[in-house]
Amino acid sequence: MMIERLPQGLVPGGSSLTFNEETIPDALKAEHKLAAGRWGVLHVFDGQLHYVNLETGAERAVSAPDLVVIPPQLPHRVSINGPVQCHIDFFREPDADHAMRTPGEFAGEDVRRSFDRCDATGGFAEIFYNLFLDSSPEVPGYFADTDFDEQRRVLRDSVHMMVTHDVSEPRMREMLDQLGRAHNREAHNVLPRLYELWLDCVCETATLLDSEWDADLERKWRVHLRPGLQIIMAAY
Ligand code: HEM
Repeated sequence: MMIERLPQGLVPGGSSLTFNEETIPDALKAEHKLAAGRWGVLHVFDGQLHYVNLETGAERAVSAPDLVVIPPQLPHRVSINGPVQCHIDFFREPDADHAMRTPGEFAGEDVRRSFDRCDATGGFAEIFYNLFLDSSPEVPGYFADTDFDEQRRVLRDSVHMMVTHDVSEPRMREMLDQLGRAHNREAHNVLPRLYELWLDCVCETATLLDSEWDADLERKWRVHLRPGLQIIMAAY
């Protein structure tokens, strides 16, 4: 099977909700296309759907866990004939006006301060892994051979990096591309749907550690970390 890859250097720009066979919008099942410079990554988290490239007429059954890379302006549609969970991440080609602008940027300062309050307790990564390992029976198997002293350190440092840097910065991009390769199906084979759990557990950790935590801050953490997750997931 050919693994689809997004071109290097695209900028994350928003995500859909996770849809199932009942909630998937009719617009996705009808012919449509992305605007010029906009790319999509359609993740199939569970079940199966059919992706139809209306330019070539090629139809592909996409079974979880897998993804389809959708180029700009390509007419396409999906068809659903059974249970499915899917999700679309959007990316755009960088341009002079927007090159440094990603969706989470506005939230940065508040999230940085919140992370610092959590980090000052010294327990961020330990609490995170306790929650994450308990969050689903699927998670512990991934960490059967892990040295947790080291893992807690690299997790804390990678979250710190994601909180303090924008995904458009080259150093950050390099880290995310490297994490994409370390987690994809050719390496640790981390199923893309598990990143939602990862994000839930990061927020739950911050809920426990940040005395100033509230719903607005949670929204900001989610929006700020999402672009990094999009890049890692697209490398699956
Ligand atoms: C954005 C989310 C995530 C970040 C920032 C992250 C961060 C990291 C980092 C920094 C490493 C070390 C990489 C290396 O040594 O090259 C790592 C390894 C790993 N991650 Fe993640 N991770 C994320 C999501 C996940 C998820 C959802 C899973 C699912 C179970 C997962 C499972 C693993 C495993 C199994 C390893 C290897 C552990 C080992 O060396 O034994 N990660 N992660």
